[in-house]
Amino acid sequence: MDNTGGGIAITGCGSAVPKAILTNHHLAQMVETSDEWIHTRTGMSQRHIASPAESLSQLSAVAAKKAIAMAGLSPKDIHLIVLATSTPDDLFGSACKIQGLIGASNAVAFDLTAACSGFVFALITAAQFVRTGTYENTLVIGADLLSRWLDWSDRSSCVLFGDGAGAIVCQQIPNGDRLLGFQMNSRGSQNHCLNLNYQHNSRALIDGIVSQQGTYQPITMNGKEVYRFAVAQVPEAIEKTMFHANLTAEDLDWLLLHQANHRIMDAVAKRLGIPPAKILSNIAEHGNTSAASIPLALDAAIRSGQVKSGDKIAVSGFGAGLTWASAIFEWG
Ligand code: UT7
Repeated sequence: MDNTGGGIAITGCGSAVPKAILTNHHLAQMVETSDEWIHTRTGMSQRHIASPAESLSQLSAVAAKKAIAMAGLSPKDIHLIVLATSTPDDLFGSACKIQGLIGASNAVAFDLTAACSGFVFALITAAQFVRTGTYENTLVIGADLLSRWLDWSDRSSCVLFGDGAGAIVCQQIPNGDRLLGFQMNSRGSQNHCLNLNYQHNSRALIDGIVSQQGTYQPITMNGKEVYRFAVAQVPEAIEKTMFHANLTAEDLDWLLLHQANHRIMDAVAKRLGIPPAKILSNIAEHGNTSAASIPLALDAAIRSGQVKSGDKIAVSGFGAGLTWASAIFEWG
């Protein structure tokens, strides 16, 4: 490893989604909703749902291997793995499981939780290790299986989320730095707006000592409040990131936001003066896949040739915490 530090390049990406597809029409058979309502209010048409045989670790491993191959590396070349997820297979974390599955035996791996902002937080975290020269080749994964934590009788939340995993390789380069700017935020005073809380069942162990053994309750969200927060805060965060990067909105080739709602994407682009044609989105096919949504859409845009080497992309994640973060980088 080169301890002198250096610039960063994002050189590979990959993604994986579960096989089963749940359409809006399927949902209309389950709760009182319609394809028209879901599509008009969110832009979603379908989402992928993990079966009992599929796991977050397996999907992440598939996405990771594709990203590593695109970067021209082998898993043994990876020094750091950061997994952004709120839904690990194991509450102790799933990053090490993924490390084992892909055979990245020279890496250190850990989980990071920042809900739907997790991928951008993880990218920024990995970038610090690359810039200081601590680790040369890093793997950043965003993955979530929120379908496992939904109340399937609550139409206000169950229609929104899907499952998936996306990964990128972030490498040290000797000249230049293609991570042009970043920004991270959290606001605990609005923590109540979006939760997946622990629900305890008391259990008396012995006289005077009561333990709690429970599980997590399904997602609860104040959709309107989160919507207002996103439309107000995300443009500001991207503006601050552009300022640090010495860029204007015209310099950006693409805007890639957390895929929560197409109306949020349109409103943010409008506030920034970015034309709709520069919005990258796959919300129709995947719904809201939480920490996976940005790398899933990035991978699709890169593999289809929509995003080309040297393109400048502004990404922004937002969600529970409340948290939000943005980064601007040049692909390739
Ligand atoms: O990933 C984390 C970040 N999450 C977000 O950014 C989500 C932000 N919020 C949103 O995207 C939107 O608030 C939602 C898509 C969640 C909801 O859209 P909305 O336009 O804010 O709808 P609403 O909650 O105000 O509900 C409007 C109406 C209500 O009926 P009434 O009270 O007007 O009679 C709801 O009961 O739509 C009703 N409704 C539905 N109707 C059919 C709520 N869910 C559904 C549904 N199908 N699935």
